[in-house]
Amino acid sequence: MSAQKFVAFFLAVILLTLSSLPSFAQEEGNSDPREITGGAQTLEDIMARQRGEPLDDQFRRDAIGNSDLAAPLGSQLGPLGGVSDPELWRSFRYGTADIISSNSGPAGDVVMQDGGMRWLSWRNGPIRTIGGYLLLAVLIGLAAFYLIRGKIRIEGEKTGETVLRFRIIERVAHWTMAIPFLLLAVTGLSLLFGRVALIPLFGKEVFAPIAIAGKFVHNYMAWPFMVGLALSFVLWVWKNMPAKVDFKWLLKGGGLFTKGSHPSAGKFNAGEKIVFWLVMGFGVIISVTGLSLLFPYQINFFAPVLDVANSLGLPSLFGIAPFDTVLAPQEEMQFANLLHIIIAFVFIALIMAHIYLGSVGMEGALQSMTKGRVETQWAKEHHDLWYEEIAAKPSGETPVE
Ligand code: HEM
Repeated sequence: MSAQKFVAFFLAVILLTLSSLPSFAQEEGNSDPREITGGAQTLEDIMARQRGEPLDDQFRRDAIGNSDLAAPLGSQLGPLGGVSDPELWRSFRYGTADIISSNSGPAGDVVMQDGGMRWLSWRNGPIRTIGGYLLLAVLIGLAAFYLIRGKIRIEGEKTGETVLRFRIIERVAHWTMAIPFLLLAVTGLSLLFGRVALIPLFGKEVFAPIAIAGKFVHNYMAWPFMVGLALSFVLWVWKNMPAKVDFKWLLKGGGLFTKGSHPSAGKFNAGEKIVFWLVMGFGVIISVTGLSLLFPYQINFFAPVLDVANSLGLPSLFGIAPFDTVLAPQEEMQFANLLHIIIAFVFIALIMAHIYLGSVGMEGALQSMTKGRVETQWAKEHHDLWYEEIAAKPSGETPVE
């Protein structure tokens, strides 16, 4: 063969080889950009994930090797060798690995899920920070209110006589709810802020026993709190039904901001009724989420609730994608924990205002929950309709302790 023929033959072979190689340029009309990466993710996928945009990751879920031909974990090599590491980890990650777990709990067969970091960054990030500032703002607000308005005094002449306001059963119900709540609040906050606030202040050696005791108290105080909550509901629910007079009370701000203003109220005024219903609502949510943390993986309610929200079309109202309702048991607990903390902060903020008005903020209020009786003049000023009602009853019919 002449030299020219040889070079021509050589070039023809190279051209033929090149033309048979897959094209790296995107072919016109090719709708799947991942084809050019052989099915792997593209730069655009990575960028979209970093921008936090929703991504259909089915292509990754499906990329878990050819399990029919490749040998699964722990078995003899098949004709195509073993499943590659990335394929194996991906099948763990998406919960499709065919594995046998020696841990028989409900979450035992979830080897990997990626909600943990999301939970941690919310708990130790915005929720803890915003919650902390909320409590601080309420404290400052109450201090400012006290400085400007001062203690709300009994304005008329005191009579020296008292009337029964809360029977013993009502006071027992109140304190069975209130004392555990205060202990739950203190221990809960110390567990949440321990690492960032208490360890730097007292050191790890001091914090360790505080944390152990705190966890113990927090676990056991939940029970009397729930009993007190249920008892308070039964005893007070009828007295807390909204009435016409409540709207007038609210329009006048309950007279809290003006001296000498005492809008009419029954046994409970509109402010107290709002406190009652919020306490019941928050109390139920905090109890249910708390129970799901106390009994890991046994109480899973987020998936069904999100399912209902999806079927009502709630996500589209806010312009977001439907909620993912396939939740790993760990994710159920992560959501329960976040909701528990959010409600705890709002609940504690509410109770701080309640404690202020029930003690230092108002003369004559605290006795109603300690001794059960209040000064008659206090009753006339703050709960005139209730006072008229009991004063009109023959003495034999007035409730006794
Ligand atoms: C040191 C803590 C507390 C004090 C000094 C306190 C004080 C009081 C007082 C004086 C009343 C009666 C008000 C009246 O006569 O009209 C009351 C009622 C009530 N308390 Fe407390 N309380 C405390 C903690 C709590 C806690 C922790 C809760 C709930 C978790 C709570 C829930 C209620 C409810 C639902 C009522 C009935 C409705 C109302 O007055 O708002 N209390 N409290």
